Amino acid sequence: MRQPLVAGNWKMHGTRISARDLVSGVRQGLEGLGKPRVAMCPPFVYLADVAAQIQGTALALGGQDLCPEVGSGAHTGEISGAMLADVGCSYAIVGHSERRSLYGDSDEVVARKYFAAQQAGLTPILCVGELLEEREGEHTEAVVARHLDAVLTQPGGVASLAKAVIAYEPVWAIGTGLTATPAQAQAVHAFIRKRIAQHDQAVAERVQILYGGSVKANNAAELFAMQDIDGGLIGGASLEAEQFLAICRAAG
Ligand code: PGA
Repeated sequence: MRQPLVAGNWKMHGTRISARDLVSGVRQGLEGLGKPRVAMCPPFVYLADVAAQIQGTALALGGQDLCPEVGSGAHTGEISGAMLADVGCSYAIVGHSERRSLYGDSDEVVARKYFAAQQAGLTPILCVGELLEEREGEHTEAVVARHLDAVLTQPGGVASLAKAVIAYEPVWAIGTGLTATPAQAQAVHAFIRKRIAQHDQAVAERVQILYGGSVKANNAAELFAMQDIDGGLIGGASLEAEQFLAICRAAG
């Protein structure tokens, strides 16, 4: 059985004070929540504060991105995987659609970030997903396959998925209030698992595939009930403790 995972992606939101309040709200509400693993991905500058606050709890920490370069070096403004691990992260999001569309992260860069995360001992959360026009043009599977293959076709790519998480995030559903229906999401999740199974059945069965895109307290349960949906990557609704906790409970 795959353990559900709910990861909150705070994006560029918050202050030190709001971050502290949010984490303390989530911490309190999580007591007694059994099954899902819960992770929070605050902006880089708040990671250390959050790490201190969640010490001794089951909460996990993740970075929202990382530098594709491994090791240290002259990369002004960048944060390495090793730095993320050093401040207590166990996850790093790679290939988020906002990175792809606003900051030019190509499939090749996303793959480098993915492997850089793993080299640092982090579990990458690889985001894949189509734009609205790609869905309307019936290119969803082709786009998702391309995003996946950027990693799968690298040496060791298939085996690497044993230590990775995939997040299917239809771009048209991110921050828009539009959510894929459970059936739409399930179809793409099943497609992803099948594509991986063509290479390695055991890896395909174990890999967690999260859904992301306007997951809220009122739609989480029906999404998470689908066979191939193993939790969620949550943006807007992860900024409010009660809402985020309700989503975590729906994964239980
Ligand atoms: P959203 O964001 O939940 O606000 O739609 C999801 C994401 O970008 O990961």
